[in-house]
Amino acid sequence: MKFEYQNPTRMIFGAGTLLRLGEVAREYGNKAMIVTGGGSVKRNGAFDRAVASLDEAGVSAVECSGVEPNPRLSSVARGGEIARRESCDVVIALGGGSVMDAAKVMAAAVFYEGDLWNMFPHGQAARRLPTRALPIITVPTLAATGSEMNSGAVITDEKTMIKSFVGAKCLYPKAAIVDPELTVSVPPDQTAYGICDLITHITEAYFNGVDGTPVQDRFAEGVILTAMEYGPKAVADGNDLDARAQTQWASVVALNGWVQAGTLSPFPVHMIEHTLSAQHDIAHGAGLSVVNPAWMRFAAKTRPARFAQFARRIFGITKSDDMEAALEGIDRFEAFLRSIGCPTRLSECGIGDELLDRYAEDTLLVAGNAEGQLPGRPMMTKADIVEVLR
Ligand code: NZQ
Ligand code: ZN
Repeated sequence: MKFEYQNPTRMIFGAGTLLRLGEVAREYGNKAMIVTGGGSVKRNGAFDRAVASLDEAGVSAVECSGVEPNPRLSSVARGGEIARRESCDVVIALGGGSVMDAAKVMAAAVFYEGDLWNMFPHGQAARRLPTRALPIITVPTLAATGSEMNSGAVITDEKTMIKSFVGAKCLYPKAAIVDPELTVSVPPDQTAYGICDLITHITEAYFNGVDGTPVQDRFAEGVILTAMEYGPKAVADGNDLDARAQTQWASVVALNGWVQAGTLSPFPVHMIEHTLSAQHDIAHGAGLSVVNPAWMRFAAKTRPARFAQFARRIFGITKSDDMEAALEGIDRFEAFLRSIGCPTRLSECGIGDELLDRYAEDTLLVAGNAEGQLPGRPMMTKADIVEVLR
């Protein structure tokens, strides 16, 4: 095992920490662009409290509202223009993963020369990563993506309906203000999709990473077990602040690079799901809930011992035969997802099987290797992806 790990994002965690936004933003200048989504932060009062905190610290604010779930490239370009035109010093993302991802790319768009889509792999010959961005502060209102403390962003080009990702050092937020009180208004379905998303960030590394990472294995199992303990409580009672807080911290550590350090893991389940949420505008976590158990059944055939370890350590399964234990563990995992209200079949997301070839082709366009396969354990061909989706 050999790796380098650095996460420069300052984490400010806890109920009521939104009040510190002004003080933190002031460190980066006196004019902020606040990026928001479709209005949830207006309805729950978070926006007004954020602006009041900025005002108190002497930071003026312009707003870029209307970032849609599965954010579009045109929205990102619009935000970049606002930030540039208004000479903003800092970009504040107040919303879910979609708002945070869009805000990150807006912050980089201010300095990026040429077509923004060139930051994202989509089958083009040359990709150009952003190297500079305005300082970014994330204030997540939904526990799911971990975008608040990582360097990634996922954007959809609405002209081609391709969803792709960028990861760059300059996109690490300077600070993340993670206030679980902001998540109490998240409805049960989005809460559940977030739990599935965070667990999938961990299972990707657990099942696709290199061998010989026992410390990471135990981190991974600990976070999954915690999410499975507190997540359902947050779904059942959105006002349970302890359940909200534990779930949100789990979602942060699930994708701030700590659990994945040294695993060198690709994310095949995510790559397949992104083509579904691009084409059908479904919630990312709902798409993962369909793809992940199906992918696990496919992959377990090649590595039953690894999946048996998951089954035994997460679900206490005692079967001695690895393949039997593995399959029982996957059944239990799928049952957990259903118990919190996640779909596990494409048909439940309103998706038929007419376009399975297209999804597989799009997946390989964005994430395929030189041989045209999807990286992971095992590597997947187009036919394999279609089999999993079917
Ligand atoms: O738009 P608003 O009105 O804010 O409503 C949102 C949206 O409708 C709502 N919501 C958010 N906070 C709320 C709330 N409703 C009530 N109360 C609150 N406090 O929830 C809906 C979904 O929001 P969205 O931001 O789309 O969800 P999520 O956080 O799951 O983000 C999903 C996006 O992140 C990408 C996904 O692909 C998808 O585009 N991902 C980003 C990653 C990253 N940067 O590291 C990794 C992930 O794997 C993922 O791919
Ligand atoms: Zn995800």
